[in-house]
Amino acid sequence: MFRFFRRPIPLVLFLALFTAIPVLTALIDVVQIPSGAYPAESAHLAVAPVSWLAHALAGIAFGITGPVQFVRALRNRFGTLHRVTGMVFVLSGVILGLSALSLLAQVTPQRTVLVDIARGLFGLALLVALTLAMAAIRNRDFLRHRAWVIRSYAVGMGLGAVSLVFYPIYIVTGQAPTGFASDILFVASWVLSIAIGEVVIRHLSRSPPSLANENRQRGQ
Ligand code: HEM
Repeated sequence: MFRFFRRPIPLVLFLALFTAIPVLTALIDVVQIPSGAYPAESAHLAVAPVSWLAHALAGIAFGITGPVQFVRALRNRFGTLHRVTGMVFVLSGVILGLSALSLLAQVTPQRTVLVDIARGLFGLALLVALTLAMAAIRNRDFLRHRAWVIRSYAVGMGLGAVSLVFYPIYIVTGQAPTGFASDILFVASWVLSIAIGEVVIRHLSRSPPSLANENRQRGQ
């Protein structure tokens, strides 16, 4: 299975599927927030329009640049592109984490406290993971850098896993899942995304020569 995802097209298609629903939601928000034409279920976010807009914009940039960072063929052939999209990824990730914490501080909770605590922890974890990814690259520790970038993406895009679990339920039942059980499912889906990230990191750490080759090709 891992060999399948080493090829650029399956990897990009998988990551695009993972990213698509949150990014599309964020794109719709970016159009609706300035005009005030958002749906009733999002109206509670209007108390924090700056954080909401910043969060949606950062989510789009994070969701698009994340998959680009993982395509080895692009990393090898277009090192400058990798560095530029990497900077956008880190900056948007920082804005995403900070705006998430700001939303949590300002907005009336719509779900149980379990989800708010989890979101707060995920927001903080994203900021820590990005900081450690940057620290690792400063020390030219490429293996640690790759591991923390994968962790950043897995934590930040946990919403992708939530969407892939919740949307089929919505399509089948015609209703968005609500209540405590759905909140547990929400957090569990997000944690699943982090767990998948850890599995990928373990798998890659068992095959370090490929990264060593990449570093050699980039003259590092
Ligand atoms: C660590 C990562 C993240 C955390 C902690 C987080 C946290 C939050 C919080 C607390 C809210 C307000 C929820 C509410 O009260 O309704 C929110 C809303 C939102 N988030 Fe995130 N988020 C994260 C990642 C993302 C990503 C990656 C995207 C997009 C690609 C995204 C897109 C959105 C959008 C579009 C909304 C507004 C939803 C609506 O219009 O009802 N978030 N997020």
